[in-house]
Amino acid sequence: MTGAQHLGEALRLLAHAGVPDAARDARRLLAHALDLSPARLTLALPDPLPPEVAERFHALVARRAAREPVSHLTGRRAFYGRDFHVTPDVLDPRPETETLIGAALERRFARVLDLGTGSGCILLTLLAERRQAKGLGTDLSDPALAVAQRNAAALGLTPRARFAQGSWWDAVEPEARFDLIVSNPPYIAQDELPGLAPEVLDHEPRMALTDDADGLSAYRVLAAGAPRHLAAGGALMVEIGPLQGDAVAGLFAAAGLCDIAVLPDLDGRSRVVSGRLQAV
Ligand SMILES: C[S@@+](CC[C@H](N)C(=O)[O-])C[C@H]1O[C@@H](n2cnc3c(N)ncnc32)[C@H](O)[C@@H]1O
Repeated sequence: MTGAQHLGEALRLLAHAGVPDAARDARRLLAHALDLSPARLTLALPDPLPPEVAERFHALVARRAAREPVSHLTGRRAFYGRDFHVTPDVLDPRPETETLIGAALERRFARVLDLGTGSGCILLTLLAERRQAKGLGTDLSDPALAVAQRNAAALGLTPRARFAQGSWWDAVEPEARFDLIVSNPPYIAQDELPGLAPEVLDHEPRMALTDDADGLSAYRVLAAGAPRHLAAGGALMVEIGPLQGDAVAGLFAAAGLCDIAVLPDLDGRSRVVSGRLQAV
């Protein structure tokens, strides 16, 4: 059977399993099985698939049909133009998080802190884009930090990226101050969990998704502690769920931050809250 025939069969199987973008995923998995970039796949489609490739492809398609995320099957995910290593220990970097990157890159910063760094995608992107900056990434999860460290090494950023384990501010030295503090904390409320896709609910770390409460627990801790760790004039920027703008802006105000803004993503949904510590 040719690659095109295998692809057609996989597409039918994935569509039947309810995979949302079955055609795109089938192509990505076939490219992965062939060790090709998806852009080069078309050239290989008329040829018969070598048996070992066909076997690899069928195994990947079966796992995708069971709703494992593509990034877990390929071990990779593109974020802000760079390739990140991804495992089931970290949140799969999301395109909407690029809104936080865009907002952060409008500021000047030499010292950046990323709380709940996961794969490291936010911290490492900011360091890659600002070649003079240094940063600290923290997480409660040791396995997640191992993934972030691996990504730092792959991107040549190890000399400028440090990592520390602990719950939110506990992982940060008491005297440390930053020009920019960013976070994409777990913000899904417990009662929203049943509405999540199986790829998310069954395959991503629960601690990366939810606080098992109202979705705002992390923002309360982050906002309250930020003034102690921001340099004068420094900014706190967090990703939010689309309906959390007012609540999180209120927490920033209660913590004494100024210039508070709720910023939209490309679809016009509230996605980032930013605030600043008054310059002295
Ligand atoms: C939504 S994920 C974001 C991961 C990554 N920054 C990204 O944007 O893809 C939230 C991260 O916060 C971490 N986390 C959860 N609870 C935490 C806590 N109490 N202290 C520090 N990190 C925590 C999770 O392990 C997870 O890596």
